[in-house]
Amino acid sequence: MDDQFYSSLFMLMFFFSVAMAGTFFEPFNVSYDHRALVLGGRRRMLVSAGIHYPRATPQMWPDLIAKSKEGGADVIQTYVFWNGHEPNRGQYVFEGRYDLVKFVKVIGSNGLYLHLRIGPYACAEWNFGGFPVWLRDIPGIEFRTNNEPFKVEMQRFVKKIVDLMQKEMLFSWQGGPIILLQIENEYGNVEGSYGQSGKEYIKWAADMALGLGAGVPWVMCRQTDAPETIIDACNGFYCDGFKPNSYKKPALWTEDWNGWYANWGDRLPHRPVEDNAFAVARFFQRGGSFHNYYMYFGGTNFGRTAGGPLQITSYDYDAPIDEYGLLAQPKWGHLKDLHAAIKLCEPALVAVDNSPQYVKLGPMQEAHIYSSFHIDVNSRVPENVSICSAFLANIDEHKTATVRIFGEVFVLPPWSVSILHDCKNVVFNTAKVGSQVSIKTMEVDSIGFFNTTGPGHLLLQDEKFHVSKDWMSFKEPIGTWVENSFTARGILEHLNVTKDTSDYLWYITRINVTEEDISYWEETGLLPSLTIDSFRDVVRVFVNGRLAGSRVGHWVKEAQPVYLVQGSNELALLSETVGLKNYGAFLEKDGAGFKGQIKLIGLKNGDVDLSNSLWAYQVGLKGESAKLYAPEEQENAGWSFLKLNDTASTFTWYKTYFDAPEGNDTFALDFGSMGKGQAWVNGHGIGRYWSLVAPKSGCPRTCNYRGAYNSDKCLTNCGKRTQSWYHVPREWLQASNNLLVIFEETGGDPLKISLKLHSTRTVCAQVPETHYPPLSTWSNPDSATGGRISAKGIAPQVHLRCDDGQVISAITFASYGNPRGSCGNFSKGTCDAPSSLSVVSKACQGRNRCDINVSSATFSHDPCQGTSKTLVVQAECTSSVSKLLIGQV
Ligand SMILES: *[C@@H]1O[C@H](CO)[C@@H](O)[C@H](O)[C@H]1NC(C)=O
Ligand SMILES: *[C@@H]1O[C@H](CO)[C@@H](O)[C@H](O)[C@H]1NC(C)=O
Ligand SMILES: *[C@@H]1O[C@H](CO)[C@@H](O)[C@H](O)[C@H]1NC(C)=O
Ligand SMILES: *[C@@H]1O[C@H](CO)[C@@H](O)[C@H](O)[C@H]1NC(C)=O
Ligand SMILES: *[C@@H]1O[C@H](CO)[C@@H](O)[C@H](O)[C@H]1NC(C)=O
Ligand SMILES: *[C@@H]1O[C@H](CO)[C@@H](O)[C@H](O)[C@H]1NC(C)=O
Ligand SMILES: *[C@@H]1O[C@H](CO)[C@@H](O)[C@H](O)[C@H]1NC(C)=O
Ligand SMILES: *[C@@H]1O[C@H](CO)[C@@H](O)[C@H](O)[C@H]1NC(C)=O
Ligand SMILES: *[C@@H]1O[C@H](CO)[C@@H](O)[C@H](O)[C@H]1NC(C)=O
Repeated sequence: MDDQFYSSLFMLMFFFSVAMAGTFFEPFNVSYDHRALVLGGRRRMLVSAGIHYPRATPQMWPDLIAKSKEGGADVIQTYVFWNGHEPNRGQYVFEGRYDLVKFVKVIGSNGLYLHLRIGPYACAEWNFGGFPVWLRDIPGIEFRTNNEPFKVEMQRFVKKIVDLMQKEMLFSWQGGPIILLQIENEYGNVEGSYGQSGKEYIKWAADMALGLGAGVPWVMCRQTDAPETIIDACNGFYCDGFKPNSYKKPALWTEDWNGWYANWGDRLPHRPVEDNAFAVARFFQRGGSFHNYYMYFGGTNFGRTAGGPLQITSYDYDAPIDEYGLLAQPKWGHLKDLHAAIKLCEPALVAVDNSPQYVKLGPMQEAHIYSSFHIDVNSRVPENVSICSAFLANIDEHKTATVRIFGEVFVLPPWSVSILHDCKNVVFNTAKVGSQVSIKTMEVDSIGFFNTTGPGHLLLQDEKFHVSKDWMSFKEPIGTWVENSFTARGILEHLNVTKDTSDYLWYITRINVTEEDISYWEETGLLPSLTIDSFRDVVRVFVNGRLAGSRVGHWVKEAQPVYLVQGSNELALLSETVGLKNYGAFLEKDGAGFKGQIKLIGLKNGDVDLSNSLWAYQVGLKGESAKLYAPEEQENAGWSFLKLNDTASTFTWYKTYFDAPEGNDTFALDFGSMGKGQAWVNGHGIGRYWSLVAPKSGCPRTCNYRGAYNSDKCLTNCGKRTQSWYHVPREWLQASNNLLVIFEETGGDPLKISLKLHSTRTVCAQVPETHYPPLSTWSNPDSATGGRISAKGIAPQVHLRCDDGQVISAITFASYGNPRGSCGNFSKGTCDAPSSLSVVSKACQGRNRCDINVSSATFSHDPCQGTSKTLVVQAECTSSVSKLLIGQV
């Protein structure tokens, strides 16, 4: 008893001392040579997973990082988001989604490393590329060049982050997870625009970073002229041809674009996993040593954090972990298998000091062999060669290739790499996906309701007054809402006025129209037009309080016909930003609103230039100023019950309360009935929403993984709204009475908003008996146990898993034989083991995950000797907790 007590006490003390020292690892130094990063004296082959902390919530971080680790990542990579950490100059935020220290500690406590990209320019499809907007206002500043005011601010922030990490003991030599840093970001793309000053800036940035004493290596990506002291790294869809600018540096791939982002009104990009795996395998085949998925989890651009022009709220990125934190299959599973294969090769990959042995196997086929010994490629590798790994590539997009090496014949599918961890057995081929496919759903939740006072029916109508008691509304005024809002002569630059505290800026002026003008228009039948030389992103033109028209664009010219009356007319232009530009040279000069002249054309006595008129300005919305979205500001906000015949009105705020759906399924609001605006749940900005629809064409019926990928290649969602569902993290919900506030600009029906649960509903797997055995059954030739274990004779497996908290409730298809079809549509073929369904059901039903051997032994007998067989399974997943409240509706 006592012993146990003391040992628990000891454990507790040990835990606290570890936790307090912040030590997650035995301290180690990081260096590098021409082959790889060297961690604690050992060269490593590293797989990194890109996750941006503010695109998730702290509650999501541990699960995302655990899923990255399970997927085979050694490292997490993130940018640091300056405008999130320093929204006002000198006022720092390191809390909530910006709790960087906590994020780094979660990584460390999972035993993973971190690549911290301080920048501080991030790009990242993030508002203004991560720069705080106040930076523009510093006198004489020019961003990202040899400019003293900019350098002072940049150094101050980079030092702030390095010092914070050091104080918290988060660098590897302190026992923390940080092994690598980044200064600047893709500067090589814009350097030409800055001439000699750009070159000097890069030298300064390198010296400044190194001078901070962080004690781990720094990277610059896309920087072919990076100084000798900094590792230049590659970003792109493929980086296998990349060579750093010095023989002393290893080949690092900081951004493998395994998906892509989307803009409002766009289709959605997808990168096929077979091609992604091909790119990664080719990178390691040709000498790469550190590879990062950009993104492994993309997440959500909450609030107003989305970049521009016109980037959407979702940052799903077609990543291996989806926007909600669920596994995207088969992407996650196939890449996990790839990572396991690369890990098996690690001893051979790091053993080769110079170039691997190269063998041309055919016109578009080649092998790279990693071994510390010279290998005779024409015969079987002798048993006494313990360390040897080979990559066999077929880069032909069309044809399967049959190649001969090591005294054996290998069949290589088009656009694929086979990995032989021991130069004998194929443990992985990038084109052969054995992992499960998942079909996810967005289902209407039948338990959460809208009810201003608590749980209840979706809509309570009061027939007499024609109002909804569940919804309230608030009319946003058109034009100025502050008495004596300021006036100025001329067109002020939008960001100079708003400082990006809001998307919205009103520009209001008056124009007199004479009787002659009116008769001129009547005679000619032509309306006058308001012309704008150049604007971004959205402008709405109001004449005498009525909307004349709206335009969307990025620095484009527009003309809006207007209907004017005799005498004085009020012209109100609402300029709206939808994410500040995040990429390109001279970001500080890009600005927003209008450029050039604004004129009224088509008057009797010629055009009227309004560019030097007196304009009244109004920053932001009345509802924003009143904090209508904040739970603590509801008392005197001036809401009234929503009139039911008023639901399509423009410039209206809406609010309601709803109960959180039971259980832990991830959750979204379906804004398919809404126009454009922003939404908040319990005061948290869930992002901008917009109804823009993608073009009808340009989505291929099937996506061919073969051949070089680009972001236009495998688009989906043609003819549909770019985004309908908006993620609401569970962390922001309480059980009941969650406040939903919406600002709607163009007119939508809030009564049709629904609560959706997002989960994996159907899982399928299709594994031929000739597939390679589970990678866990192979051993690393260099492992402590020594020698190789042959996996020959071990059957491949089908792996199925549902989301956490869900179980396999039914097997809806199972056939060991030659079934046809695809997930959601399988049918039996001419060969089928009769026991298929019962064997699979027995192994899987009621479980969260299961594995089944693909062999005749599993199904008692061979259903058709001589025919090559495949096991196909389709299963349904449901929540393990029965939803007792269903049926009360
Ligand atoms: C790391 O390198 C420094 C400087 O060479 C050395 O003083 C320190 O002991 C090293 N730390 C570890 C953990 O090896
Ligand atoms: C393996 O064995 C052969 C013959 O037994 C010998 O010639 C060769 O040098 C050995 N190779 C290694 C790497 O030990
Ligand atoms: C709304 O919620 C309140 C509080 O839970 C409840 O008393 C009321 O009956 C609900 N309204 C309806 C229509 O169910
Ligand atoms: C913004 O304001 C600054 C100083 O107030 C001024 O120097 C600059 O020209 C303005 N920018 C634009 C585009 O008007
Ligand atoms: C419009 O007419 C009114 C009254 O005649 C006059 O006070 C005002 O200055 C005029 N405004 C403009 C912009 O010409
Ligand atoms: C909306 O309903 C109110 C109350 O019945 C009625 O007075 C008003 O005219 C209606 N408005 C519209 C636009 O139908
Ligand atoms: C939801 O998650 C929490 C914490 O992980 C767990 O305790 C709880 O049992 C889960 N509830 C359901 C319904 O799955
Ligand atoms: C699956 O195969 C492995 C290795 O061949 C074996 O150990 C295991 O028992 C098999 N599982 C079942 C359920 O047959
Ligand atoms: C389902 O598969 C069958 C043949 O296997 C095919 O004819 C049919 O078109 C498929 N249906 C769908 C919806 O894919």
